[in-house]
Amino acid sequence: MTGLTQSRTYLDNAATSWPKPEAVYAAVDRYQRESGAAVGRGATRVATELSATVGRCRERAARLLGAESAERVVFTFNGTDGLNLALNGLLQPGDRVVTTLAEHNSVLRPLWAQREFGGVEVDYGPLNADGIIDLNALRDRLTSETTLVVITHASNVTGMIQPIADVGEMAHEAGALVLVDAAQTAGHLPIDIESLPIDLLACSGHKGLLGPLGTGLLYLCPGMEELVFPMRLGGTGSQSETDEQPATMPDRYESGNHNAPGIVGLDAALGWIEEQGVASLREHEQGLTSQLMEGLRKINGVTIYGSASPEERVGVVSFNIDGIAPQEVATILDQNFGIEVRAGFHCAPRIHESLGTMGLGGTVRKSVGPFNTTEHIEAAIGAVREIADAM
Ligand SMILES: Cc1ncc(COP(=O)(O)O)c(C=O)c1O
Repeated sequence: MTGLTQSRTYLDNAATSWPKPEAVYAAVDRYQRESGAAVGRGATRVATELSATVGRCRERAARLLGAESAERVVFTFNGTDGLNLALNGLLQPGDRVVTTLAEHNSVLRPLWAQREFGGVEVDYGPLNADGIIDLNALRDRLTSETTLVVITHASNVTGMIQPIADVGEMAHEAGALVLVDAAQTAGHLPIDIESLPIDLLACSGHKGLLGPLGTGLLYLCPGMEELVFPMRLGGTGSQSETDEQPATMPDRYESGNHNAPGIVGLDAALGWIEEQGVASLREHEQGLTSQLMEGLRKINGVTIYGSASPEERVGVVSFNIDGIAPQEVATILDQNFGIEVRAGFHCAPRIHESLGTMGLGGTVRKSVGPFNTTEHIEAAIGAVREIADAM
């Protein structure tokens, strides 16, 4: 492994962040070697210490998201899991959902199943050339019969930030609930749930929140627990004398054993993010994103998707090189330069209709994280220049 890590320039943080803060490795290692307890399943000293860590993780997550209540933070196994819980727990036959063409398959596919088998109607709001939701077209789609609006906070393809406050306001005026997919923004952008017109927010724990894989969160605003049916029922370590699922938060949605090593690691990651501050992490990522876009823009034959302004995006940059398939670019970057990126449709097929990249096989995506440096970006730009020059 050491040999591999030394030669890696990792620019695929939108898929999952790597490396993690040292504190994350230490916390997971300590849990695995010295604790091994199950969350909420015992009262030993070790189990009590673990419960306190899990509680602290919930509090840190709530603080990070600007949410008042830590009990409303539900641990999930990834972003997809939280989105599935929100969508499948909420939607009923006859419901009408408005979403956007920018969504990830973790929204599109549960909605596909609801359309095919659940009697739910789904409408897809169009995007402008930069991949931003067209607010006028969205307004036209909202009627008094719309029950839910689902929107990603930032696209995992273009990195463009969606105007979720405007969308939420429009949706609430129409009487619809709002679910935000914050997979690409949690930990990258300041988020203040309490001041946003939204009802549910799902995110991964392993991307911008820097926790281990197998972690995610769903935040339910007050009252949502009465509308979102729990999708996984079973033991919670609480109210065990009854076969009825507990109504108390967060147990209502957290049946079965937790991913304790993941949550312990996530807690350490959130502690690290609190120390750094989201604003300073954002500044670092914006600097690298500007450097990357400026460098790529100077290379003949390179097209970058989305707006040129780093303020309008997170640290995700999609591009193509004329005459060469994105997958081929990614393979050369990895094999010849040790630069790890992602290529293809990035699990968000519909946005490629708006970007005109469907027929090209998608895009090449570079995504930065807190441990990337200006040297990584320089290397990534130089490698693209070499590939483009050889065409
Ligand atoms: C916008 C968006 N939504 C949802 C997801 C799903 O997150 P996870 O991989 O944690 O299930 C991703 C992952 O890439 C994403 O980019």
